[in-house]
Amino acid sequence: MWGTSFKFLFLFCYQVVLSELIQEGHYIAAVYEHQVILNPNPNALFNRASALALMNRNLDIYEAQVDAAAQQGAQIIVFPEDGIHGFNYTRESIYQFLDFIPPSLHSLQWNPCLEPDLFNDTDVLQRLSCMARRGRMYVVANLGTKQPCEFSDPRCPLDGRYQFNTNVVFSSNGTLLARYRKQNLYFEYAFDTPSEVDYVVFDTPFADKFGVFTCFDILFSEPAVSLIRKFSVKHVVFPAAWINQLPLLSAIEIQRGFATGFNINVLAANIHHTALSMTGSGIYTPSKSFYYYDMKHEGNKLIVAQIPVNPSEESCQKSIVYRNNIQTALFNLPVKDDVCEKEEQRNHSGRSTTGNQILIPMFYAEMMYDNYTFVPVTEHKGDLQLCAGSLCCYLSYQKVASSSELYALGVFNGLHTVHGTYYVQVCALVKCGGLGYDTCGQEVTHASNIIDFHLWGNFSTSYIFPLLLTSNFTLNLPDQWGWEDSYYSMSKNETSSGLVTAALYGRWYEKD
Ligand SMILES: *[C@@H]1O[C@H](CO)[C@@H](O)[C@H](O)[C@H]1NC(C)=O
Ligand SMILES: *[C@@H]1O[C@H](CO)[C@@H](O)[C@H](O)[C@H]1NC(C)=O
Ligand SMILES: *[C@@H]1O[C@H](CO)[C@@H](O)[C@H](O)[C@H]1NC(C)=O
Ligand SMILES: *[C@@H]1O[C@H](CO)[C@@H](O)[C@H](O)[C@H]1NC(C)=O
Ligand SMILES: *[C@@H]1O[C@H](CO)[C@@H](O)[C@H](O)[C@H]1NC(C)=O
Ligand SMILES: *[C@@H]1O[C@H](CO)[C@@H](O)[C@H](O)[C@H]1NC(C)=O
Ligand SMILES: *[C@@H]1O[C@H](CO)[C@@H](O)[C@H](O)[C@H]1NC(C)=O
Ligand SMILES: *[C@@H]1O[C@H](CO)[C@@H](O)[C@H](O)[C@H]1NC(C)=O
Repeated sequence: MWGTSFKFLFLFCYQVVLSELIQEGHYIAAVYEHQVILNPNPNALFNRASALALMNRNLDIYEAQVDAAAQQGAQIIVFPEDGIHGFNYTRESIYQFLDFIPPSLHSLQWNPCLEPDLFNDTDVLQRLSCMARRGRMYVVANLGTKQPCEFSDPRCPLDGRYQFNTNVVFSSNGTLLARYRKQNLYFEYAFDTPSEVDYVVFDTPFADKFGVFTCFDILFSEPAVSLIRKFSVKHVVFPAAWINQLPLLSAIEIQRGFATGFNINVLAANIHHTALSMTGSGIYTPSKSFYYYDMKHEGNKLIVAQIPVNPSEESCQKSIVYRNNIQTALFNLPVKDDVCEKEEQRNHSGRSTTGNQILIPMFYAEMMYDNYTFVPVTEHKGDLQLCAGSLCCYLSYQKVASSSELYALGVFNGLHTVHGTYYVQVCALVKCGGLGYDTCGQEVTHASNIIDFHLWGNFSTSYIFPLLLTSNFTLNLPDQWGWEDSYYSMSKNETSSGLVTAALYGRWYEKD
């Protein structure tokens, strides 16, 4: 008896202390980068018991992370994609790893931890639900799910079931609040694409609405852009198993770029698997990044950070003021207020480089499997202009600390076709792999040049993700970014370390 009341008292005090730790208008978020214990033979057919035995080893680690996050006051935790069952399955071999999930959760208030017998094959959901209860936090996790279908359904696969790559969300009492089925599968032959896009938004008492999507989805309009535009989501939970690709699409770079581009908070959890180049997780607000990247070591990482409930409040002062541009209305822009109005207004037409341009050799090189047009960035300071079709990119730069490293300004405006097919418009200042022009576009991780720059372009899409990656996988935020008239621009002085990539990565969804 004494033990119980003591424990109760202890928990009570602990909660009081924690709630005092939270700044007003903030909440505490956690993301967890998981070194998944993989199925050594993902093509073999398992029975349910051995499939569960394997998944439970990962879930044991999840449970310990929920405990660790709870001690730091986390109100929500996000786990990565494929973190429970692993990857490289076939449609048949993953079957015993799938949980059943009811097709609709709307009318159902189901708590798998408290009501384990309501449906069969819900062992993983039960464990996750119990974790949410135990940690008294919202839990977002990714698992494989199955849904039987009738042969009268023309889309029903021949084996009589749908198999989905699914995110689930539990409230802090263990209730299953939402499930999201991945829309943009990345060559995942074990899974089906849902017949209708899931727009999943869930409410929390601490930060209103969150949107949910998974990994490759971040590069596509549905559901990601709709969640932000139509559902006014200001927080995104983002489980991923993201393979880093430099110079433009490393995990932390695009996670940061998405939060910057939309002025929202992003809670991103990646798998840790260095041999597959998977690492990079973080909690991002419009003005802060709490991230992790480590290709050198194996292991797990829990990131906990206190972030604002209203992200646009803190982003305002950093953004450019926009005028008379219909595109600005489409992209999710920070609310204007007095702070914003004081910001510098640039005049792009005045900075155009037609006057005193030196003739500079243009060349082509492959970057991200695309044929980029480049010009070298060779002077101490200068202005460059470079076009590809309807997209012109402009760069004003000044090298503050320079060494013999070669940089180049690249432009690409077209359909990307390797590892997915999607239309991009990109202006990118990159460090080249060596001193030869043919090395531009290569994967580079370290740099020592500090370059003050202003980069802008007349994009046809309204969706631009500003990317700014510095030496040794560190992130910087631009000083300014956003639309002004028909140009999207970004500028930065004094990066904290050498510049690896500064890019405006535009996705022209309509052209896909
Ligand atoms: C999964 O398959 C890919 C492609 O076949 C391979 O490169 C990778 O090593 C495999 N990963 C594991 C963990 O088996
Ligand atoms: C679970 O499976 C058993 C055995 O197949 C079956 O008898 C039972 O009706 C199922 N329960 C539910 C809730 O579907
Ligand atoms: C559990 O949480 C959900 C969602 O926040 C809420 O609707 C429900 O009433 C809660 N259930 C209990 C038993 O507290
Ligand atoms: C921008 O600069 C150009 C050239 O200096 C000038 O003609 C134009 O009036 C300026 N526009 C604005 C809006 O200030
Ligand atoms: C890249 O594009 C240019 C211009 O269209 C073309 O001349 C060149 O052959 C292309 N390079 C490759 C490798 O396709
Ligand atoms: C971008 O600017 C170039 C050069 O002024 C122009 O030819 C092109 O049409 C512009 N593109 C768009 C989409 O306005
Ligand atoms: C790169 O960063 C890691 C930590 O993330 C650090 O251990 C390492 O020393 C750094 N390397 C260089 C060359 O700065
Ligand atoms: C950034 O650097 C450029 C050139 O180095 C300079 O003209 C400009 O005033 C600087 N801007 C800020 C905000 O410091």
